[in-house]
Amino acid sequence: MRVAMIGTGYVGLVSGACFSEFGVDVTCVDKDQVKIDMLEDGRMPIYEPGLEELVIKNVASGHLSFTTDLKEGVHGADAIFIAVGTPSRRGDGHADLSYVYEAAREIAEALRDYTVVVTKSTVPVGTGREVERIIAETRPNLEFDVVSNPEFLREGSAIEDFMRPDRIVIGTKSDRAQEIMRQLYRPLYLIETPIVFTSRQTSELIKYAANTFLATKITFINEIADLCELVEADVQDVARGIGLDGRIGRKFLHAGPGYGGSCFPKDTLALARTAQEAGRPLRIVDTVVKVNADRKTQMAEKIIAACGDDISSKTIAILGVTFKPNTDDMRESPSIDIIAGLQRAGAKVRAYDPEGMQEAQTLLDNVQWCDDAYQAMAGAHAVTIVTEWNQFRALDLQRMKEVMRSPIIVDLRNIYNPSEIAEAGFRYYSVGRAATGCAD
Ligand code: UGA
Repeated sequence: MRVAMIGTGYVGLVSGACFSEFGVDVTCVDKDQVKIDMLEDGRMPIYEPGLEELVIKNVASGHLSFTTDLKEGVHGADAIFIAVGTPSRRGDGHADLSYVYEAAREIAEALRDYTVVVTKSTVPVGTGREVERIIAETRPNLEFDVVSNPEFLREGSAIEDFMRPDRIVIGTKSDRAQEIMRQLYRPLYLIETPIVFTSRQTSELIKYAANTFLATKITFINEIADLCELVEADVQDVARGIGLDGRIGRKFLHAGPGYGGSCFPKDTLALARTAQEAGRPLRIVDTVVKVNADRKTQMAEKIIAACGDDISSKTIAILGVTFKPNTDDMRESPSIDIIAGLQRAGAKVRAYDPEGMQEAQTLLDNVQWCDDAYQAMAGAHAVTIVTEWNQFRALDLQRMKEVMRSPIIVDLRNIYNPSEIAEAGFRYYSVGRAATGCAD
């Protein structure tokens, strides 16, 4: 089998590398010459655990190659995946589909025989139909099918998610296209991964409904966490107590500073837009979007309150700035609003992140970037854990007390045990649990 992957962002690059690991011949196409040069050199444009090894191995075996030439890349492909970006359009929250449509036009011009064109980018309902229209208009006599095949991988565990997915969703009513998709995913079918065959529109909606449901679940537990703080309950126990109910499930019930990233914020907004335009607003989704946006500012206020309400001449250390661990991605990260909120209140911010600082420096001004966690905490009046990188899970508390000006920890990811931290002599604030060590 031969596959062309248009777009070497997270989804395109990971999917391309994983298909090549299945033994499929994959050509990844991207307009960005610098990116393609890097990849050919075995250097990754993104940080994703395991990706570099997979790419290098499959380039060496001849299953994976890169090009900027779309025509050359799609030649002889059984399936062409469109995996280009669909960012939020400025102003209205709609997904910007211009890259998808441009790719469809270029693919149409390059095709020779029957090919399956697959949308892997997250695209609103009806996009597949438009891609089909564009290809048919460009090449009226060409035989082709347009299939929706959304991706559910998470940054930081993308390869594992691709190789062992909970399910594969394939949207097409064409038997011929279904057969090609079935062959492509054969290695996953053999490990009994459920495959949902459905219509194209349904498949497109499944992707948005999945991300929005997860964003809603997080937002729900975040609001329950706020309530826990007021009624002396513990959100971790609430999450466990409800999550053990198989109908609810334990995953995505970690209270924190609000969801970020390149997917949930964009996809919730885009689904809300689609629903409004269809004349059936999704009120739950509208609320989730608003509650999550407000939460990030609320977290800055929480830190300020923990520092005694006035931080105008104080230094706050921030540990972790990416939207989640194991990525260098800063998109919609809660750290951006939190740091801005602290600076507005007059604080000096020192920060450290294992992978995200290069990107963060382009987004955040006046932050003192440090070489490690302890350097960030040196002279700080309080430290806030924003991202739960593993290296922040076992900090040397004694050393922290020595370097910090006052022993205050605001843990927005609940990675420490409140009583242990209090015993070590800290004032400890977390999310949805009682503050400890604050007797004085
Ligand atoms: C998300 C989905 O989980 C993937 O299934 C989907 O394929 C992807 O979007 C996409 O559409 O491409 P991702 O954005 O990489 O993946 O990251 P998640 O692990 O879902 O985390 C998103 C945000 O929610 C992070 O800011 C994270 O810290 C937050 N989160 C997650 C919580 O606050 N609590 C949780 O319990 C889980």
